[in-house]
Amino acid sequence: MTKVMMVSSEAAPFAKSGGLADVLGALPAALSRHGIEASVVLPKYRGLHPEGIERIWDDLSVWINNFEHHTSIWKLDKDGVAFYFVEASWFFDREGIYSSYGSDYGDNHLRFAVFSLAALGIARHIVKPDIIHSHDWQAALVPLYAKSWFGADPALAHVKHVFTIHNLGYQGRFGAEARHELGISDYLFTPVGVEYHGDLNLMKGGIVAADFVTTVSPTYAHEIQTPEHGFGLDGLLRQRSSHLAGILNGVDYADWNPATDRHLPANYTPEDLAGKAICRKALLEAFGLDDSVWQRPIIGIVSRFAEQKGFDLLHPIGDELAASGATLLALGSGEPHQEWIFHDLATRHHDNFRVWHGYNNPLAHLIEAGSDMFLMPSRYEPCGLNQIYSLKYGTPPIVRATGGLDDTIEETTGFKFGEYSPQALLATIRWALECWKDRDAWIRRMQLGMAKDFSWDRSAATYGALYEHVLRG
Ligand code: ADP
Ligand code: GLC
Repeated sequence: MTKVMMVSSEAAPFAKSGGLADVLGALPAALSRHGIEASVVLPKYRGLHPEGIERIWDDLSVWINNFEHHTSIWKLDKDGVAFYFVEASWFFDREGIYSSYGSDYGDNHLRFAVFSLAALGIARHIVKPDIIHSHDWQAALVPLYAKSWFGADPALAHVKHVFTIHNLGYQGRFGAEARHELGISDYLFTPVGVEYHGDLNLMKGGIVAADFVTTVSPTYAHEIQTPEHGFGLDGLLRQRSSHLAGILNGVDYADWNPATDRHLPANYTPEDLAGKAICRKALLEAFGLDDSVWQRPIIGIVSRFAEQKGFDLLHPIGDELAASGATLLALGSGEPHQEWIFHDLATRHHDNFRVWHGYNNPLAHLIEAGSDMFLMPSRYEPCGLNQIYSLKYGTPPIVRATGGLDDTIEETTGFKFGEYSPQALLATIRWALECWKDRDAWIRRMQLGMAKDFSWDRSAATYGALYEHVLRG
């Protein structure tokens, strides 16, 4: 049986800031249903002490730059997957995952280097995998350290490395001096290694060192090889294109299904949509609106408020949107300028726009269920999960045709626009509002989306085939 060990900074339900956690919370279990033995290594963040967790290794030392860091390893079995947690209190017993009060921790490079080395320790002493599958820049040092420091280690020498890019916009770029703290030698700190315009670029290290690189949708796999979406790494990704593939994320329908969702005041199915109206009412109430706006279409948003997500397109068309009569309900938090956009819209058009700042999982589910449409006008989107959730919830998405949004939404199930401009967005929203008026056609559109199947099984089978391919190579 093939043994895969995943390394990631997030996995639902243990630690989540975005879709990376959803993927790590579901893909390993789907792999294990496909006969692959899957495990996951995560940091043991503050307060992370789920029932059943056990300390299995008291002192796993990690050496970097002549410093010894002590870690202990905890384990929890869940849904056929072994989760290992690296405890290093100095680095992970903190307020946030990557930052506190809006500023990134100054030692993130070291935090995730210690984590990556501890993960390699787990691989050598405990898991002994065939494949190590690392995710995003936080785990990008895993293949790099494995090949440069442990190339002759009998437990690691034969191991193949897969590295997945969930978002090329976050590369883990640090000043050149950081490489000394991470023990990265001169021969690696070159333009064909981890150096990028004089800086240390951890994601680049992962791309260079891995045996195979994947990203989370076929379209994004093409886009990142272009200067427009390559964030400076498109040349390298073109060089590696024969070892690069896009595998679309799946969705965990145990968590995101209106027929069974425990966060909703009522459940519903494509055949019986009555519960959706109850969710709609509860959603309006949650945002402090009453039945007087019942007749207006509701557009929902659940998002990190980041430049990537394209909400700067919304701001210039605020007046027109308000005049169109739509109600826009948004949940999210993030970059100050993006938060300001929503704050300003909600202040100027209090009857039409409301925003809930922060992170709120039950409200995210209620927005998916209670809205009539779901908006994701992303500048770029590696995969995107919320648009897939909204299909299942009978909430046709309005998306920009980029990355995974383009791969998952069709003209029959949602609304797409290509040009990144406020006018293109406005025209598409207006078109959706027009279509919404034809109730029968709208219900058919909802039902088509609800019938789509993006469950993890298909993606897990594709990863399974990829692992086979990598092991043969
Ligand atoms: P990204 O990973 O780029 O943020 P995705 O669409 O892949 O985008 O995944 C986002 C995930 O995070 C979804 O599960 C979404 O419901 C969740 N999410 C984002 N913002 C919030 C929030 N403010 N409150 C609750 N859940 C959120
Ligand atoms: C990233 C991307 C998002 C993707 C998620 C999971 O955060 O921004 O598009 O769905 O990772 O792969």
